[in-house]
Amino acid sequence: MSEKQLAGEKAVEFIQDGMIVGLGTGSTADFATRKIGERIHNGLNIKAVATSTATAQLATALNIPIVDLNEVDKIDVTIDGADEVDVTYTGIKGGGGALFFEKMVASISQKNIWVVDASKYVEQIGKFPLPVEVSPFVYAHIYNQFQDKGMKPQMRKQQKKYYLTDSGNYIIDLHLNTIKESKEMASWLNAIPGVITHGLFINTVDLLVIGNGSTTRIMEN
Ligand code: A5P
Repeated sequence: MSEKQLAGEKAVEFIQDGMIVGLGTGSTADFATRKIGERIHNGLNIKAVATSTATAQLATALNIPIVDLNEVDKIDVTIDGADEVDVTYTGIKGGGGALFFEKMVASISQKNIWVVDASKYVEQIGKFPLPVEVSPFVYAHIYNQFQDKGMKPQMRKQQKKYYLTDSGNYIIDLHLNTIKESKEMASWLNAIPGVITHGLFINTVDLLVIGNGSTTRIMEN
């Protein structure tokens, strides 16, 4: 079994009857979603909120009842993947383009469990390009601002067109190599008009489940 599968399935042990569960996006979170589908088939009774269209489609195919984020008071547990996470539990998400909904769902979740393979647990984040979701109305100006600051921006593309997120925005990936001042960087990005959100997740993770070889390592923040 892969480290991603080990981590994804392990996290599902924290799901109990009656919970509202946030379903993450990406190949690792998909393992959790499939396991939840299996448990529902065996009698588990939960409702779920999806962080992307792709996850909603997978969940529906697995007979996981999906509810709208605005129809729930809170989310009990969210299981999501990440692209990098460091020893302070600061992470980068959004490699799969679902960062906006992922951030919203994480923000109203009482417990956030991240599931990653061992390669994503790093000393310092930043090797993975930092995704910034921006409004198509003003993207070129934001891109130029990043360029002027030497942040090595790259417009994310799909089939030669700009990649469009589920909420109809573009993504600029910043090739920073290392991010030392993540809080300052997050505040700076948040303050730019036209930035919808960014992939820096600070103070989000409660439990980190790392697939490690043939076992899992669980770390509590
Ligand atoms: C989706 O936007 C991302 O935040 C994913 O959670 C992240 O890219 C992890 O993906 P994998 O589990 O496929 O590596």
